[in-house]
Amino acid sequence: MEVLAAVARILPWPVEIRTGDLGRSAFRRCGDVAPPDLLARATEVDAVLVGAVDTVGAVADGAPQGSAILSLRRALGCYAALRPARVWPGTEGISPLRESLRLGTDLLFVRELSGGVYSGPHHRSPAQLFPRRATDRMAQSEPEIIRVARAAFSLARARRHQVTSVEWGTVLASSKLWSTVVSQIAARNRDVSYQRMRAGEFARELLRRPTEFDVVVTENLLGDILSDEAGALVGSLAMLPSAALSRHQLPHLYEPVHGAAPEIAGHGVANPIGSILSLAMLLREWGSDAAADAIESAVGKSLQAGMRTPDIGGSASTREMTTAIIGRL
Ligand code: IPM
Ligand code: MN
Repeated sequence: MEVLAAVARILPWPVEIRTGDLGRSAFRRCGDVAPPDLLARATEVDAVLVGAVDTVGAVADGAPQGSAILSLRRALGCYAALRPARVWPGTEGISPLRESLRLGTDLLFVRELSGGVYSGPHHRSPAQLFPRRATDRMAQSEPEIIRVARAAFSLARARRHQVTSVEWGTVLASSKLWSTVVSQIAARNRDVSYQRMRAGEFARELLRRPTEFDVVVTENLLGDILSDEAGALVGSLAMLPSAALSRHQLPHLYEPVHGAAPEIAGHGVANPIGSILSLAMLLREWGSDAAADAIESAVGKSLQAGMRTPDIGGSASTREMTTAIIGRL
């Protein structure tokens, strides 16, 4: 919010901010991690910006972890998460990977967000049954694949014209449908180069030759796992922003890729970069390239000047990092 206030002056229109509680704070207030009135209000604005959501405190009371953000994504009809991962110059040593190998990395995950194993149903056998058994269904429909693939190809056109589809492989029926449909979309977008990779192969190559990938389109669970891996490549998961595109004229959702990190809650040391860059994505989508560019460049300069929160090997606090970024706007 402070960063938004600092760029407000160069925005093409005035901003009205509405706030609401999601996750643990909502649970404490009304016993629901994603209260229906909040979800309804979220559909009425132009864009939704989410802070890291903590449901941990609510888990003991039966709310599954992650359910708050999943409910919000569902309410907004989110179908694709855009998760850019770029290595910032001047950040030697914040990743375990050699600088020569990772410098120049600039890729964009396009993660399918409405289908796959997260959308369930999830089933656990009654506790008294032996042996116990749990089942999660992994389903994917053709419309889901078509819309995420189209998004990937059109985004690639504004980048380096390359799409990699990352897949589970032919054992999974949902993955076979995925590759058939994505290949059909690729055939209609021949100006964009297209390749398919197995998940394991991609997970390995991402660490061996990260600069060679441009747009990476993949299903929900793989997108979750691989964007975390990209976090280590960039330096920290906390540096990754994301945008979740929504359907039916609903607002898009902007959120850092990381979760709530309860182990550091209240210590004032969380890296704010993922959140701040999510705001930049929001402003860019909103038509203010100037504000988005200013924020991204301030983040880059702060990193170059050596600002490091503990997750990337330093001792700067959240406040110090934020102040450094705002000071460079
Ligand atoms: C993410 C998170 C969520 C997800 C969880 C909290 C459900 O890990 O945004 O990557 O997997 O989508
Ligand atoms: Mn995740």
